[in-house]
Amino acid sequence: MMSRHSKLRLALFRLSLTFSLIVTSQAQTQEDPPPAAATKACQILNETLPGLVFFPGATNYASDNFHYAATSTQNSTCTVEPLTNEDVSAILKIVGQEDVRSPFAVKGGGHTSNVGHSSTTGVMISLVKFDQITANDPSTTVTLGPAATWDQVYAKLEPLNLTVVGGRIPGVGVGVVYDRPVEQPPAVFGEILSLPLTRNTTKARTLTDLTLGASQSPQTGYTQHIIPTLHYTVPIMRAMKTQVDAAVAKAIAEERSIATIAMSCEPYINDFAHSVDSAYPHSPSRPVTPGHPTSFYNDVADRDYFEQLIQEMSGAIHVVVIQEGQGLPDDIHYPNYALADTLVELIYGENLPRLREIKERADPTDVMGLSGGFKI
Ligand SMILES: *[C@@H]1O[C@H](CO)[C@@H](O)[C@H](O)[C@H]1NC(C)=O
Ligand SMILES: *[C@@H]1O[C@H](CO)[C@@H](O)[C@H](O)[C@H]1NC(C)=O
Ligand SMILES: *[C@@H]1O[C@H](CO)[C@@H](O)[C@H](O)[C@H]1NC(C)=O
Ligand SMILES: *[C@@H]1O[C@H](CO)[C@@H](O)[C@H](O)[C@H]1NC(C)=O
Repeated sequence: MMSRHSKLRLALFRLSLTFSLIVTSQAQTQEDPPPAAATKACQILNETLPGLVFFPGATNYASDNFHYAATSTQNSTCTVEPLTNEDVSAILKIVGQEDVRSPFAVKGGGHTSNVGHSSTTGVMISLVKFDQITANDPSTTVTLGPAATWDQVYAKLEPLNLTVVGGRIPGVGVGVVYDRPVEQPPAVFGEILSLPLTRNTTKARTLTDLTLGASQSPQTGYTQHIIPTLHYTVPIMRAMKTQVDAAVAKAIAEERSIATIAMSCEPYINDFAHSVDSAYPHSPSRPVTPGHPTSFYNDVADRDYFEQLIQEMSGAIHVVVIQEGQGLPDDIHYPNYALADTLVELIYGENLPRLREIKERADPTDVMGLSGGFKI
């Protein structure tokens, strides 16, 4: 079932997690001139790490700033490509030093849809050189660098008869690794196979085949959000269709550059089942899955408009999810999809006090506050 106005996507694989930082500062708008602090930081970086710093006009500058969507792309003052952990440490010391304090961003795969999360007008730290994919011995885990993309990981591991479960579309950077698949009851596939479909691509396939079959052309405008949901009941699905239709009609009536508004259900089974002691995922006792509203549009200037439209649409659907007993107002919002102004309490939930305590200890001068992401 797929149309311009409504799209139901049944995803069997856990979604991609882009590399994102857990702290933030205000996103700069694209029109801002380079901050003086960034100019100073870039000059010091260029002297300290010769050959690793790139300026406008350089090929590496363009690829370092490139993002999947133009709406989450910014022109940094310079980019820097660290080769080692020591380089990363040196860079953070420079951007954070008292007489510099330059805004910066860190980019892995560049798939985030929130401007300012892995884009900046300051210093772009591109992790492009951290792209290692190593199967460990014994081969029960793999070590991945944050700039490796899931499609590269699958292609490299498949000849070894190994895989990991990660993102399902090409170009998405590695942030989190799951070391084993969640077992699915066979009945699940039976139910899915019996659905009436307008297009049937069901088959046993390798992760490489699945990933490379997914579309991933760069987009102009892309804005998404998350509606945490336990189970997708019929009234919830009806509310989704009503809200998508209404949002499309509104954007057309208000002459915005709409291409598509869609709503996907991602009914994972035993979501959070393999949760470990970390910032995310969360307790298996509350296994919400990501209901996923998305919008594509053709004018970067419409970003705020579509953020608000998706926000309102999500709020209206979430009300029905709660009425149906399939959600709570404070359910965890999947950070990979959440709009930038989502309350950080809804991102990290009960883990937040501990994250704040760690941050206090590890980053007393708030260097990471110069970067983007959800602020702890
Ligand atoms: C960066 O440093 C190189 C020398 O390593 C120099 O040639 C270049 O002009 C510097 N770029 C800027 C923008 O300062
Ligand atoms: C970045 O700079 C290039 C070259 O000046 C320009 O074409 C592009 O529109 C700028 N992008 C943004 C997001 O400001
Ligand atoms: C992977 O599995 C295939 C089929 O069982 C086998 O022929 C091949 O030797 C295996 N490759 C490795 C590297 O173990
Ligand atoms: C879709 O294709 C699969 C595999 O070819 C088949 O088992 C299934 O019955 C098909 N489903 C529909 C609804 O045609």
